[in-house]
Amino acid sequence: MAVRLLIENIGMLATPTGQSACRGAEQGEITVSKNAYVAVGEDGNIVEVGTGTVPAGLRDAEQVVDAEGGLVTPGLVDAHTHLVFGGWREHELALKLRGVPYLDILAQGGGILSTVRMTREASFEELVEKSCKALSMMLALGTTTCEAKSGYGLNLETELKQLRVIQKCGEIQPVELAATFLGAHALPEEYKENREEYVRLVCEEMIPKVAEEKLAEFCDVFCETGVFTAEETRQILEAGIRHGLPAKVHADEIDPIGGSQLAGQLHAVSAEHLICTPDEGIASMAEGGTVAVLLPATSFYLDKTFARARDMMAANVPVAVATDFNPGSCPNLSLPMAMNLACYKYRMTPEEVLTAATLNAAAAIGRADRIGSLEVGKQGDLVIWDAPNLDFIFYRFGNNLVRKVAKKGVLC
Ligand code: NIG
Ligand code: FE
Repeated sequence: MAVRLLIENIGMLATPTGQSACRGAEQGEITVSKNAYVAVGEDGNIVEVGTGTVPAGLRDAEQVVDAEGGLVTPGLVDAHTHLVFGGWREHELALKLRGVPYLDILAQGGGILSTVRMTREASFEELVEKSCKALSMMLALGTTTCEAKSGYGLNLETELKQLRVIQKCGEIQPVELAATFLGAHALPEEYKENREEYVRLVCEEMIPKVAEEKLAEFCDVFCETGVFTAEETRQILEAGIRHGLPAKVHADEIDPIGGSQLAGQLHAVSAEHLICTPDEGIASMAEGGTVAVLLPATSFYLDKTFARARDMMAANVPVAVATDFNPGSCPNLSLPMAMNLACYKYRMTPEEVLTAATLNAAAAIGRADRIGSLEVGKQGDLVIWDAPNLDFIFYRFGNNLVRKVAKKGVLC
């Protein structure tokens, strides 16, 4: 097969390996090769990864890139974002600084609900343009695949609009998107006195429509005090599963009300946030094969404690790290920033974090067979860093050290 891209003179190639999430000690057992090269074929998949002299056949590649002795890793996978939304919420900063809690802002009709109003008003085109702008910044920071949730519509029309925006963005720019339906992100104001009816609407009208139109791959619920109870979450996620949408859960972000236990019981593909997860939640996730998607930049921004990543890894729960990019609890789209925080605050090693932001993140969005590692047959998604080794990108922070990004063997 013709070679689309050859990257040579790689000082260090660092990658997890395999087609499924790594758990326990495996999470830190990455492959590190010095003086390496990688070649991507015409179909966008990796045809060879090696060390030493580049074989003559590969040198005829359409494009040859000199990594100048730098680090190469798989393209980063951001497994939790709220990419599509109208407006911003910078006015909440002053409230936050005065100590007003996140859930109080929501209970007063602000927070998520104010973004819902702005998202309902925004046109499809405006949302596409704004989301693509965010995606191009993410790409420049090394993200080549990104999960994106709906959840700022909270009515059928706007939830579908958000999901169609995700679909459109996936078609017109390089970052691959995985859509998640999050119709149960908050109780909309018009159902304040009638929560049962909203849960019914999500289960019986929104989920069937989203599944029928193939607009999402997963179904998620914000299981939280004042948002959706564990029982309502179960009802909604079971409806999703019946319609072919595997479960994800926003669990234990502020209060531990049973979300992580439920995630394990439902064999959810992931439980996300997990800031205050109890032992029973960790045991349940380990048992259910659920990936823990941890969001350290949200802990940082909400000034909360940090998830028990080391306890989760010790209990054989695969850990992924994502941004949680959204206009409220984490208006940050840098996955390297989240990776740095994971290292400093979760005390995860650079090797464990690399797995968390690549292969385990890919597993959290059902793509570990195709992306998340640099191996023959996997997609040619990779990052060339302005760094001589893996430790360097964790040691430095607050600077964009991404030099070049390739998606399916095409430089972006
Ligand atoms: O993951 N917790 C729920 N959803 C988002 C925040 C959304 C918002 O504040 O707009 C999160 O933190
Ligand atoms: Fe979130």
